[in-house]
Amino acid sequence: MADLTTSYLGLTLKSPIVVSSNPLTYDVNNIRRMEEAGAGAVVLYSLFEEQIELAEIGYSNYYEQHRDELPEALRHVAEMKEYNQGAGSYLAHLYQVKHATAMPVIASLNGYYSSGWIRYARLIEAAGADALELNIYYLATKPTITGAEVEQMYVDLVRDIKQSVRIPIAVKLNPYFSAVANISRRLVGAGARGLVLFNRFYQPDFDIENRAIVPSLDLSTPSELRLRLRWVALLAGQINADLAITGGVHSAEDVVKGLMAGASVTMMASALIHHGIDHLAAVTANLQSWLDSHAYATVGDIRGCLSHVQIGDSAALERANYLNVLRTARSKD
Ligand SMILES: Cc1cc2nc3c(=O)[nH]c(=O)nc-3n(C[C@H](O)[C@H](O)[C@H](O)COP(=O)(O)O)c2cc1C
Repeated sequence: MADLTTSYLGLTLKSPIVVSSNPLTYDVNNIRRMEEAGAGAVVLYSLFEEQIELAEIGYSNYYEQHRDELPEALRHVAEMKEYNQGAGSYLAHLYQVKHATAMPVIASLNGYYSSGWIRYARLIEAAGADALELNIYYLATKPTITGAEVEQMYVDLVRDIKQSVRIPIAVKLNPYFSAVANISRRLVGAGARGLVLFNRFYQPDFDIENRAIVPSLDLSTPSELRLRLRWVALLAGQINADLAITGGVHSAEDVVKGLMAGASVTMMASALIHHGIDHLAAVTANLQSWLDSHAYATVGDIRGCLSHVQIGDSAALERANYLNVLRTARSKD
């Protein structure tokens, strides 16, 4: 049987299939089931910036009773209550999870930079997290803010947190940078040991009858994997960090593709929400049999075999592919 053991962020994982941050991780029993089903590690649901702010200014109870008196920017936290009970509970949950499972547990901070992050990064480390994933969510809505300023904010954040904790840090990136490779290199220079490609954004929809903006959350489809494969294949070997794929990983074939691109781990959320936690066991078994039937002894045997550095020709991953695709589409007419 092929050996699935993988290294990610300096941690040893029994499998390259990792559960990414999602509401199933809210329940300790679910996390036990994920481990039994073969998960290599779990990334907990995020502790959000707004929750840290509320905890820092001591508004938690007050705010529950006086929701409308809160600044506009913090009101939506009321709707997050169902998902995540607050900063203190997050630490308690992390502590419980660590005692309930032997697999590595990665905590997640989600939002933009504030002084609270440093304190909570330290508390998260103290509560036992094996690593910390930073999901930096900053939407530069003001036309005066430049891309360079946004990137510098990301780099400063990673550097400051890295200086405050000893556990490894991964950064969950969005794909909307002008120069993904450059910001990746700068984040690694600032101390990120891993990069998680890519965050998905939940774009609100328009309700045209009621002239309202409505939140919408769609689960991913496997077609979203391609953007990740392309960037991981381009970055692997060029960036001195572990790469993780999140977005569109639904089957064992998707895991194989991610490994071939050069990912250390591939993460799943939507597929588990859709099919249930047992889906992990099926994907793990299918990965095992795919590797066995192709006579690979370890996941390392396929890792990066389709990365830019291995195939030595990035054209297939870059523009030439675009032209080829257009040509093929035209020839079908
Ligand atoms: C319902 C739901 C909740 C999520 N919550 C978080 C979160 O709290 N923090 C985070 O970093 N990502 C969160 N994600 C994003 C997932 O971790 C993952 O990156 C994304 O869904 C892409 O992976 P997938 O195609 O396997 O779903 C959430 C995703 C879903 C579907």
